[in-house]
Amino acid sequence: MLFNLQQILELADAKRIAIGAFNVNTLQGIQAVLEAAEELKQPVILQYAPVHGAFIDLDLLGPIMVELAEKAKVPVCVHLDHGEELSVLHQALEIGFTSVMYDGSMLSYEENVAYTRLAVEMAAEYGASVEAEIGAMGREEFASLGEAQEGEAISGSYTDPDQAEDFVDETGVDALACSFGTVHGLYLTEPCLDFERIKEIRDRIGIPVVMHGGSGISAEDFGRCIACGVRKINYYTYMAKAGGEYVKEMLSRTEGPAFFHDISVWGKEAMKEEVKKAIQIFSDL
Ligand code: 13P
Repeated sequence: MLFNLQQILELADAKRIAIGAFNVNTLQGIQAVLEAAEELKQPVILQYAPVHGAFIDLDLLGPIMVELAEKAKVPVCVHLDHGEELSVLHQALEIGFTSVMYDGSMLSYEENVAYTRLAVEMAAEYGASVEAEIGAMGREEFASLGEAQEGEAISGSYTDPDQAEDFVDETGVDALACSFGTVHGLYLTEPCLDFERIKEIRDRIGIPVVMHGGSGISAEDFGRCIACGVRKINYYTYMAKAGGEYVKEMLSRTEGPAFFHDISVWGKEAMKEEVKKAIQIFSDL
């Protein structure tokens, strides 16, 4: 059943858990996420990032995401991740997405506010929610497209709690992606998270905090982030890696010809297991 982001995050707030937001760019990815959520009877967020247009177009995968989410036995929010143009937000909303992220984190603060406001107005016409971002989490969004820059390079761009409060007041967004030590993609060194910053931001903004770059964070750190107010956790790299590594192993054990239908099933099953592990941690199961 379809929920928008605000509705699904209310469920998370009531239980003091976080909801996993998994990026998909294949039918097998969608199946892996929905089957995992249904088996665990937990709400989930299915998301598509335009940077994955290199693998599949939003116009092709988006309607399938919406249709399968509608049929799911658990609450599912279908979300656009990192939309940098209002036109792609509009495209997702027309397809039936129930939530969109406007990512103006590379713009000036004033421009980010102005465009995010337009995104909020546009989404409201569809009954959809909006996530926005201030601060930066590394521009290399996904491991497959390059490794994340880390440490000192990003600590200068951690989200400022004062600015976060003003931003939420001025834009009316439903959730805010914040920078507090996570980065997209594979971590080269142990991540060191600023828990106090999350807590302060959450207290000041009064809406859910979103963590990007969930892959590579320990179960203990996830727990602390959730206790501080994180309610949505974006997770992709480890899911894709689990699928890819399992396919590699199965192919190395395969004698004779390899068939693509086997590869797609192996990939899906391994991604599903990884998604289940993540949901169990986020939901404290
Ligand atoms: P990871 O690929 O590092 O898990 O991050 C995903 C993400 O934040 C998508 O926006």
